[in-house]
Amino acid sequence: MNASEIRQKYLDFQSSKGHRVIAPAPLVLENDPTTLFTGSGMQPLLRYLLGEPHPDGTRLTDSQPCLRLQDIEDVGDPRHTTVFEMLGNWSLGDYFKKEQIENYFEFLTKIIGLDPNKIFVTCFIGSEKYGIPKDIEAAEIWQSVFKKAGIDAKIAEIDTAENGDKRGIKDGERIFFYNDKENWWSRGGGIETTPIGDPCGPDSEVFYDFGEDKQDVEKYGKSHPASDGARFMEIGNQVFMQYRRNEDGTFSELEHKNVDFGGGLERLAAAQMGSFDVFKTSLMQPIIKKLEQLSGKSYDNNTDEMRIICDHLRGAYLLAAQGLAPSNKAQGYALRRLIRRAILKALDLGIAQDFLKETISTIESEYKSLPDSILTNRDHALEILEKEEKVFRKTLNKGLKELKRMASRRGEKSPSSGDPDKSARPQALEAKLSGYDVFTLQDTYGFPMEISVEEAYKEGIKLSKDWKQEFDAALQEQRERSKTASKGMFKGGLEDHGEQTTKYHTATHLLLAALQKHVSSDICQKGSNITADRMRFDFNCDHKLSPEELKQVEDQVNEWIKADLPVAFAEYDKEYAKNVLKAHGQFWDKYPEKLKVYTVGNENSPVSREVCGGPHVEHTGVLGQFKIQKEESSSAGVRRIKAVLE
Ligand code: SER
Repeated sequence: MNASEIRQKYLDFQSSKGHRVIAPAPLVLENDPTTLFTGSGMQPLLRYLLGEPHPDGTRLTDSQPCLRLQDIEDVGDPRHTTVFEMLGNWSLGDYFKKEQIENYFEFLTKIIGLDPNKIFVTCFIGSEKYGIPKDIEAAEIWQSVFKKAGIDAKIAEIDTAENGDKRGIKDGERIFFYNDKENWWSRGGGIETTPIGDPCGPDSEVFYDFGEDKQDVEKYGKSHPASDGARFMEIGNQVFMQYRRNEDGTFSELEHKNVDFGGGLERLAAAQMGSFDVFKTSLMQPIIKKLEQLSGKSYDNNTDEMRIICDHLRGAYLLAAQGLAPSNKAQGYALRRLIRRAILKALDLGIAQDFLKETISTIESEYKSLPDSILTNRDHALEILEKEEKVFRKTLNKGLKELKRMASRRGEKSPSSGDPDKSARPQALEAKLSGYDVFTLQDTYGFPMEISVEEAYKEGIKLSKDWKQEFDAALQEQRERSKTASKGMFKGGLEDHGEQTTKYHTATHLLLAALQKHVSSDICQKGSNITADRMRFDFNCDHKLSPEELKQVEDQVNEWIKADLPVAFAEYDKEYAKNVLKAHGQFWDKYPEKLKVYTVGNENSPVSREVCGGPHVEHTGVLGQFKIQKEESSSAGVRRIKAVLE
């Protein structure tokens, strides 16, 4: 049975049980700013789960493409994917636990033929704190269902998954009670983090057992359904959505009790074929085979790379087919990241030529069943991806040139002109490439850290001893700067900052220095956010800035711009930077022992001296006209300035 057949059988089966098949929603939901992408089948149905009548009745079913970028780092193992199809069925105040459990068991064992002996389940242990009872009802329904299949299913109580790893499974145990980390479902995860106003409830998860020989006790402890490792795989989650979270944190019963079932098609297909590896299913194999052919390497010896490429290309195709274009913002950035990560992994396999089009075209047919109302841009998807591939290959070439330039420049320029005390940084002088350089390559040129390290090795370019710490410090700085903009949204990874953001970055240093000079010397940076179009800067200050103060600050920045001051950096010992140079810094306790300091103006009496990973312009003259657009309160004792460079 291939995955398409399983999808069809599921929808037919649910139809036979009175469910109406509804069209899946797009991956980018128009009216839901809480996530970038549709991450579960219930998400588009939220308002109906909260009580609004659905035009198609009280029993619904669909197959919903989902994208969960939060899982991106886990991709590479046999079962995690960022993109997946979630088979779903819902009861909106209609049937409840008994009918759901019986139906799903019937589907698994009778319709797609899974062996009932290989099915294990979990239920919620209850929460005393919130007055939510242990789900004995669900456990007893499971017992009777197993009994009809001739299985005496015993119940085990494991409060936390960690306990379970020591305890394992005892004779005949098949139904496991866990706490809210495992068996409570809300869009926020566990019970404490359930969002206010959201529907939620205890859940009962279903697992497929691939056999005791798949457990790796040394690595994961003893297996039990919710443990890590290859033995058990979750193949369905039945949420008994009977609560809603109140403003005061408590939970009230919903007037109508709902069932929200979701099961990953990829995983069901894998269980059905007896493979613990979802990348062996018909949904993935065409891509894997193509990668084997292009690289001349086998999947079995290159699983991690091929899984990542396969996963990311499926996601990239779905997004492009829905009309999304790669960009540096939100969903477009996620698409860009998927494509670029896939290209980099392919390089690891030795695939250096353009390969997206021919690889992705192998799975176009898998998505035939998705309606045109979602895949509105199906016909142009491959073109979009191909274009981005070409752009990224150019970026890679440019980054490589820049890396070599940096290394040779550092080789000649020793000691650097911006360093008043050579003895403060003997180690950094020996290295040709520092972690800050590696960060600049990634941040400004989109040239990934891994590639820099690899290229440096190949070219015999020496990296500084603490390069990783330096890199992390620069990354940390940058994350702090972009925190406000990306709060609650996907962030991290490769970013492309063009010239414009580099200019704003330097302007930020000038603005801080001007505030310190004209408003108060105690002013520190409290946050910063830069896009290609504007800058936002938060700082401590006990009063609203007067129009005169604002004018002085603005004029000061423009004066420094006009003076075309040099911008230089050098690496120092932390101690020296802090106490001797008195450089401005926000995270002294987090910085590594060696750090990078940017100076604007004359070395001996600079206008600004800050710890910073860069990048910056080389002369302030290129910044243009600095204009403050707004000054406002950000939070208690913190003011915010919005400004542009014109
Ligand atoms: N909402 C649940 C999940 O995402 C079941 O569909 O797992």
